[in-house]
Amino acid sequence: MDPQNVSIRDFTGRQLSALLHSVGITENTDKSVGLLADALGPGGLHPASTSPVWPSGVADDHTPVEFSTAFAADEPPTVRMIVEPTATRPSRSANTSAALATLDRMRHRWNLDTHRFDAVRNLFLPEDPEHDFTFWYSLVFRADETPTVKVYLNPQVRGEAAAEGLVREALERTGFAAGFPVLRDHAVTRPGLDKYSFFALDLVEQRRARVKTYISHHAADVADVTRAAKAAQGVDVDRVPDFCLLTGGNTGTFDKRPLISSYTYLDGDVDAPSGYSLYVPIRDYVTNDEEARRRVLAVMGKYDLDPTQFDNALRTIARRPLDDGVGLIAHVSLRMGRPRPGVTVYLSSEAYDVATPRSISLAV
Ligand code: TRP
Repeated sequence: MDPQNVSIRDFTGRQLSALLHSVGITENTDKSVGLLADALGPGGLHPASTSPVWPSGVADDHTPVEFSTAFAADEPPTVRMIVEPTATRPSRSANTSAALATLDRMRHRWNLDTHRFDAVRNLFLPEDPEHDFTFWYSLVFRADETPTVKVYLNPQVRGEAAAEGLVREALERTGFAAGFPVLRDHAVTRPGLDKYSFFALDLVEQRRARVKTYISHHAADVADVTRAAKAAQGVDVDRVPDFCLLTGGNTGTFDKRPLISSYTYLDGDVDAPSGYSLYVPIRDYVTNDEEARRRVLAVMGKYDLDPTQFDNALRTIARRPLDDGVGLIAHVSLRMGRPRPGVTVYLSSEAYDVATPRSISLAV
C-alpha cells in the first residue's frame, strides 16, 4: 500500500486490520478500525503522502500512531496501538480540545468509564501546556473481547519541576497514595536523569482498571534499572540484566534514548505496585531492523514464546526489507508481575518516513 493519496486514518486503519488478522483476531475488524478513526480525531484525515502537520511524539517520523503486539505464554497475542488525537489545524490547545471531543464520542460508543480520568484531568490538562504531548490513547484489541481504551497523560505538562507533584497527587486521587514513596525511592534516585514521563489510566470500571506510572532512566545501566524494578512487589528482578543484554547488545550504559520503567497499580495494591515493565528503545541500539528482529527472537526463545506470531506481525507491518531501515521495531518490553507477564514488541507505522540504517544514532 502506497501512502500516496491516502489519509493517515485509512493508511493506519489498513495496517491495523492486516495486523489483527495476522495474529488471528478476525472478529469485528471494521469496528476496531472505527475505534482507531475515532481516536485519531479530525487530524486523521490529513494525507499520509505529505509531511506531517503535527510533530507527534508517538513515533520518530511523527506518525500519530504506533502498533504493538503483546505475547504471553499459552495465550493468543494482543494487538495494541498508541494514538495521538489531533485537530484539523493542530496546536497544543486545539489538540487538547480535539482529544476531549474524541473522548466524549468514544465514551458513549464504547461504554468507557472515565471516573478516574475525571478525577485527575485538571492536573494534566492546563490551559498552557509546556509540552507538545498532552493526551494519547492506548487501544487494546483481544480476540473475542470488546477493545479497551487507556489514556496517557504527561507529568511534564506543567514543567519538569512540577512532574513529581503531579504524579503524587494523581496517585492519591486514584487511591494509590501509599504506593508512591516506594516508587520514588527505587526509581527516581538520579537527579536530572530519572524522569516521570507518562501517567496512564484504563477507562474501564475501577475493579479492573489499572493506573500506570512511567519513569524514563537517562544514561542508565543495568544496576539502575534493576533497582528500579524492585519498587514493584512480586517481580523477579533477576530477569532484568539478561533482558537488557539480549535486547540492547553489549551495552554498559544505555546512553541514547532512555530505558523506561512502568509500574502498574491494580485495585488492592496498597503499599506498592504489583506489575513492572521495562522498555528498551531497541532502535537506538541496533544498526537495522533485521538485527532488532534477531534480538527479539532471542528474547522470545528465552521465554518460550511462539516466534512465528511475531514474524507474522512484523511481516504485515513492514513494507521494505528489514535491513533497509531502522526503527520499524521501536521498543521491546518485558512485562513482569501482574496483570500478565510476557514480552511486547512496538512496531512503527512508518506512514511518513523510514530512518536509514545507522543514521538514527546521529539524530539522538
Ligand atoms: N516515541 C516515544 C518514545 O520513544 C513515545 C513512545 C511510543 C514510547 N511508544 C513507546 C515510550 C513505548 C515507551 C514505550 O519515547
